[in-house]
Amino acid sequence: MAERLIKSNKLRIGDVSLSYHIKKAATQPEKTIIFLHGFPFNKNMWRQQLSALPDNCTGIALDIRGHGNSTSGHGFFSIDVFAKDLRAFVKHLNLDNIVICGLSMGGYIALRCYQLFPERIAGIVLCATQSKADDDAGKQKRFDSIQAVLSHGRRPFAIGFVEKVFAPASLQKESEAIALIKSSIRRNSINSICATLLALAARTDTSVVLPEIKCPALVIRGKEDRIVSLADMQYLAKEIPGSRFVEMDDCGHLPNLEAPEVFNSLLHDFLAAIPAASVVEA
Ligand code: MLT
Repeated sequence: MAERLIKSNKLRIGDVSLSYHIKKAATQPEKTIIFLHGFPFNKNMWRQQLSALPDNCTGIALDIRGHGNSTSGHGFFSIDVFAKDLRAFVKHLNLDNIVICGLSMGGYIALRCYQLFPERIAGIVLCATQSKADDDAGKQKRFDSIQAVLSHGRRPFAIGFVEKVFAPASLQKESEAIALIKSSIRRNSINSICATLLALAARTDTSVVLPEIKCPALVIRGKEDRIVSLADMQYLAKEIPGSRFVEMDDCGHLPNLEAPEVFNSLLHDFLAAIPAASVVEA
């Protein structure tokens, strides 16, 4: 069978143009997975997952407003705004029974999406993320980061971020992934980095929705994640009925990039258990 292409597309919705990669199912599409990146990355962080999707599954990796090639629109960001963009996107493409796979900020958005439109969600993958909001110390760190980015630009921010997000072993050997992440950070404007930092600081606590999640859920953490704690991720798994929790060895905050084969195999097992569903009209 010919290799399926990953295509890039744009969709104008309201005040934004959302950019996304799409890889259509090779057979009659039975399910659609939507990948949501973390802050301040973009859709390219999911290329290895799109490439390896099962034949019956369409994959979409979206640039969240203000990131990658998506525009910023009115410029006032919140996790709620990002989730409502996704709601408009899935409605426009007429996607039902979607699986949302969100990493870190993408996971915050995924949980907000479940609060907003659970009827369209057939599965949820929460990776390196949590349901709790920032405490005051966390918010203050975001405000300090905004000041630092405004004073010193993106470069030092990107360098500091890379040192934090990868496990020590990945910092030694994953040069391609590191280059991808550095360039993703630098491609975002200073305005959108600062607006997203404010959005992260202002996000609501979504813990209340966890016991209401009825679809299958997979919770993945890199064992060496220095951003999201084991306790916060165990809490997700404990509160979501029937969820599966997996810790991946030798990974930090970006397990899909640090150990793509292991990540993809977890994803495949998870997708295989999701009942057949939707058709992509994109
Ligand atoms: C991310 O990767 O999306 C960020 O680390 C999220 C955060 O800082 O809360």
